[in-house]
Amino acid sequence: MSHAIDQLNRPLHDLRISVTDRCNFRCTYCMPKSVFGRDYQFMPQDQLLTFEEMDRVARVFVDLGVRKIRLTGGEPLMRRDLESLVSKLALIPGTEDLALTTNGSFHITRIQSLKDAGLKRMTVSLDALDDATFMSMNDVDFPVSKVLEWIDVSANAGLGPVKINMVVKRGVNEHAILPMARYFREHCHVLRLIEYMDVGHSNGWRMDDVVTAAQIRDLLHADMPIEPLEPNSRGEVAERYRYTDGSGEIGIIASVSQPFCGDCSRARISADGKLYTCLFAINGTDMRGLLRGGASAAELREAITAVWQKRVDRYSELRSAQTEDLPKVEMSYIGG
Ligand code: GTP
Ligand code: 5AD
Ligand code: SF4
Ligand code: SF4
Repeated sequence: MSHAIDQLNRPLHDLRISVTDRCNFRCTYCMPKSVFGRDYQFMPQDQLLTFEEMDRVARVFVDLGVRKIRLTGGEPLMRRDLESLVSKLALIPGTEDLALTTNGSFHITRIQSLKDAGLKRMTVSLDALDDATFMSMNDVDFPVSKVLEWIDVSANAGLGPVKINMVVKRGVNEHAILPMARYFREHCHVLRLIEYMDVGHSNGWRMDDVVTAAQIRDLLHADMPIEPLEPNSRGEVAERYRYTDGSGEIGIIASVSQPFCGDCSRARISADGKLYTCLFAINGTDMRGLLRGGASAAELREAITAVWQKRVDRYSELRSAQTEDLPKVEMSYIGG
């Protein structure tokens, strides 16, 4: 079966499915309370894809060359019985990786049930090791200890190597970089330090808030010498490093200072079933209508192929005065 290639010769390899636009956190860089307040209108239930619809569309993506599926949100565990979606996706022949990005705030009993359903890997967001900083960022007073427990239980359940995503914001959690690096090196989990990105409009992003990958690298290297590692796969978002004393791995995601659009093989499905070919896209292509209108797998395949073949996105590489004021969708909607 032939696989889809876009206008910049990039294959379709990864699918990121946002299962909900809701979250129990209000991270200031993602869903600030000033915008996502009590009156905020999230998507009504009937507009969200059902798990059966997600499974149908995912099967077509796998047929088109996707080998890696990641569930995101919002917070994916806000969706009741996420395990039943995982168990469907785990059965699709051809998928090599099935991962979840979560804030690690739910009851730890969910971890084993996700593993039993067929989840392969867990990625957990955590922005600091001290409660004062973490709480000021999640803005719902959620404590660090619970997330650390989630991470350890996930690793023990065989969902490792667990990756930890830390969004670095200048003047907010820079001081947490070294403590986080030391802690996760000691506990053998892979920390990834992420440049704060200009996704959506809610977070009031400014370039001044970004601690660049080079600055992060220098800070780490001065304390714990590191050296670069080869990428695991083409289009991987993180630059990988290892500690020169052999004590583990750490990653830096430099989407602002060193964009990686050239190899970007990611398609995104929003919770309401729109297909986006870039995290910063303005328009998505409706898949829900096709799914609910009884489209066959072949018709879905044709629709997705047509979108991918036209794809020219490379937003992060073009990021400039021209793109700054363009309308964009929110991260919680499109799924990081
Ligand atoms: P693995 O490499 O499979 O572990 O996952 P991942 O790094 O692709 O996914 P994850 O959800 O952990 O995302 C890590 C960070 O990279 C988040 O801040 C994402 O928003 C960001 N990211 C993921 N994919 C893209 C992308 O295509 N473009 C940009 N600009 N950022 C991305
Ligand atoms: N910049 C960079 N990363 C972000 N994330 C959420 N908002 C941003 C942003 N503005 C991260 C989350 C999560 C991942 C999917 O994206 O922390 O780990
Ligand atoms: Fe929720 Fe993740 Fe966004 Fe934080 S970054 S508000 S945990 S979706
Ligand atoms: Fe891919 Fe768009 Fe991110 Fe570039 S900005 S890496 S094209 S999702």
